[in-house]
Amino acid sequence: MSDSKAQLARLEINGRKCEFPVLTGSEGEQSVDIRRLRKETGLTTFDPGFVNTASCQSAITYLDGEKGILRYRGYPVEELIKICNFIDVAYLLIHGVLPNEQVRNDFARLLNRHSMIHESMRTFFDHFPENAHPMAILSAMVVSLSSFYPEMESDQEGVDMAATRLLSKIRTIAAFSYKKSIGEPVVQPSYKLSYCENFLNMMFASPVANYKLDPVVVRALDQLLILHADHEQNCSTSAVRLIGSSGANLYASVSAGICALWGPAHGGANQGVIQMLERLQAEGGDAKKIIDRAKDPNANFRLMGFGHRVYKTYDPRARIAKQLCEEVLGKLGINEPLLDLAMKLEQAALSDEYFIERNLYPNVDFYTGIIFRAMGIPTDMFTVMFAIGRLPGWIANWLEWMSDPAQKIGRPRQLYVGPKKQKVPPRKQGGF
Ligand code: CMC
Repeated sequence: MSDSKAQLARLEINGRKCEFPVLTGSEGEQSVDIRRLRKETGLTTFDPGFVNTASCQSAITYLDGEKGILRYRGYPVEELIKICNFIDVAYLLIHGVLPNEQVRNDFARLLNRHSMIHESMRTFFDHFPENAHPMAILSAMVVSLSSFYPEMESDQEGVDMAATRLLSKIRTIAAFSYKKSIGEPVVQPSYKLSYCENFLNMMFASPVANYKLDPVVVRALDQLLILHADHEQNCSTSAVRLIGSSGANLYASVSAGICALWGPAHGGANQGVIQMLERLQAEGGDAKKIIDRAKDPNANFRLMGFGHRVYKTYDPRARIAKQLCEEVLGKLGINEPLLDLAMKLEQAALSDEYFIERNLYPNVDFYTGIIFRAMGIPTDMFTVMFAIGRLPGWIANWLEWMSDPAQKIGRPRQLYVGPKKQKVPPRKQGGF
């Protein structure tokens, strides 16, 4: 059907022939432009899960799922992680270029200037139940920012300021939600500390004890945030774009992205991996048992941290995370039995026919939880860590969507399979 030579795709339906242009991306990827399809043929496309649908053109992140390539603005993630810090990468994603030293330092200082949250907002934390999941708190607090800083609606400067505020305040909100969950008073951010240092200090210092910042932990956090910073049109980023397409503000759109990320098929998998490994440990470490469960179509269980919609080879982020995990644990002198179990489980899965046939490999979430755990981050905060990392990507995608001349409100069609027209039966009036 597709004729790439003429860069046209031909479709014949009920004897009628239509042609659609084939678009080519900067890395040679091709996509049939079906925007005129319904107008010309009355047909829609049926693509549950958007498995075959390119929802936009984007210049932010490139990934090749067959080759295991991930680049932000053209830079391989493996290089960025070695050379840059999270502030560099956040700036790169949002503004399109790597900042020079002066710009990076100014940006970092600007982020510190906006790191406090409004005192009235701080009191919100008092009213969540003790066992509230930090992702619920995070999304509620992020959307609440829109009522404290409504001026972002007005102009480009307002939008830039909203992006800065969000990037800065998310770490404060995240740390405060943890403090709330353990019943401790919050620790305010400090101008003296870097982005990651500030977060760790707000998490682990207390009014009665200082927290000794370990450069190994600080750098590992920086690298983990870079690893999560963007991943093109995944579920949460698509949610951010979709909500934004209705004209909703950045805070509301990102809050929706946080909710999408929370699910166990998406960012919630990092929490799921540790819970799975703990269970494996409690049950005696029999990897085969867990693999058999994951293969059983009736078990309603998947091997967490395995498989990916786009990667049909080893997720490059998982490769980096695995290496980082060994490095960080070694430097911190931690002997983590869950790492041994994870490696055993990975080995067992990668040599199992079921996983081989389906190209199921470890994804980013498989090893990151073990690193977060080594840093002292509690399990139910893992997905919050993913959200802090992914924020620059959400912001960059929201901004790109807003300035895209082809943007339209996101509004898919459906194939209706419900009852045909029927008459409402007579009903007795009155009563409840
Ligand atoms: N364990 C066991 N079987 C699996 C798994 C898994 N983790 N992942 C996919 N499969 C099987 C699935 O049952 C199906 O088998 P069959 O063809 O016999 O029906 C086949 O592989 C294809 O799976 P799919 O559900 O069609 O694939 P998808 O692209 O819709 O789903 C996924 C991708 C990530 C949701 C899925 O692999 C999964 O649920 N993984 C576990 C959760 C997880 O680790 N999520 C984190 C994703 S990476 C971080 C992020 O970006 O959020």
